[in-house]
Amino acid sequence: MKQLRDAFAEKFGGGQGALLFFAPGRVNLIGEHTDYNGGHVFPCALSVGTYAVARKREDTKLRFYSMNFPEKGIIDADIEELTYEEKHDWANYPKGVIAAFKKHGYAVSSGFDIAFFGNIPNGAGLSSSASIELVMGTVLEETSDWSVDRVEMVKLAQEAENEFVGVNCGIMDQFAIGMGKRDHAVLLNCNTLDYRYTPVELDSHALIIANTNKRRGLADSKYNERRSQCETALAALQTELKIHSLGDLTEEAFEAHKHLIDDPVVQKRAKHAVYENRRTIKAVDLLDQGDIEGFGALMNDSHRSLRDDYEVTGRELDALVEAAWAEGAVGSRMTGAGFGGCTISIVKKDDVDSFLTNVGDRYKKAVDLEADFYVVEIGDGAKRMEEERI
Ligand code: GLA
Repeated sequence: MKQLRDAFAEKFGGGQGALLFFAPGRVNLIGEHTDYNGGHVFPCALSVGTYAVARKREDTKLRFYSMNFPEKGIIDADIEELTYEEKHDWANYPKGVIAAFKKHGYAVSSGFDIAFFGNIPNGAGLSSSASIELVMGTVLEETSDWSVDRVEMVKLAQEAENEFVGVNCGIMDQFAIGMGKRDHAVLLNCNTLDYRYTPVELDSHALIIANTNKRRGLADSKYNERRSQCETALAALQTELKIHSLGDLTEEAFEAHKHLIDDPVVQKRAKHAVYENRRTIKAVDLLDQGDIEGFGALMNDSHRSLRDDYEVTGRELDALVEAAWAEGAVGSRMTGAGFGGCTISIVKKDDVDSFLTNVGDRYKKAVDLEADFYVVEIGDGAKRMEEERI
């Protein structure tokens, strides 16, 4: 944090009056590709995330600097001219958030100097983009005379990503990051936005994130393709069923009506969305009862469904999950959008050391890449940080 304060002082002239903010990354425990299908997700906020030191300006200028992208230097913009600009690169995310707040009538009358630093592994699918969106939202709220309901902030951040940046994501990432709670995961119904927190008490088990270190090329176009396949499936089912989203269906109702979907590939996509949603609700019930083995088994089913029906895993994620299964993980699955990125596993605490070595070896042998591992610490949602905690 001292380095971030120093970077701020160096780039923007002194640190007087600057405030410190934090927004976490997220990992999803189960409920993948269900958010935009009106289903349930079960993510948690991480203790790693994006820090921002921010200070209001007297004029309307915006000056952004990231310690993660020093080669980009200071990126200059203006609150009166907020349009997406290729050359602004990562700074389009905070710009988009300011634009969304303004569009919805939240007064933003002066600019900012802001320095960012993120410790979420890059491109790992742990939502560094939603993290920077929510840290910007928090800066806006804490430095203005209005306040905003947190779920509203979450929606505005999603809108910034959908409309300003042009990535058609669901609401899971922004929700987990805006609403996260230390040592808890949140079960969110993405249709109604009803949610409840569940303590993640794994006793003698640990949660391990493993990064495939596979670049997520083409991920956005395949993501959008899955979304539209699900929309096609929903439209076909709606010819006979009064449903609002795939999340409204039980497995039985889906099986009884799946013949309405002609294309077998589209049918598989819808099957995943329906089964994964139901699986998520069951998994959280099991966790509430302290049945960690049962929860883990459903994580494994989730991965198989994402591999075989939704087809968003790929060689590296499959190799890493198979390595975890072979090394005795209680549960292991890909997490996030897929096509690269990370897996999440539940591992007995006593086995963690051997797990890290052996899974790493197996993975390297299978795909000739080094995996990185992180023991998950579940942290709080986006917030302003108190000075004594710096
Ligand atoms: C990405 C999106 C989320 C969600 C996941 C898949 O992380 O941003 O909205 O759709 O993929 O579960």
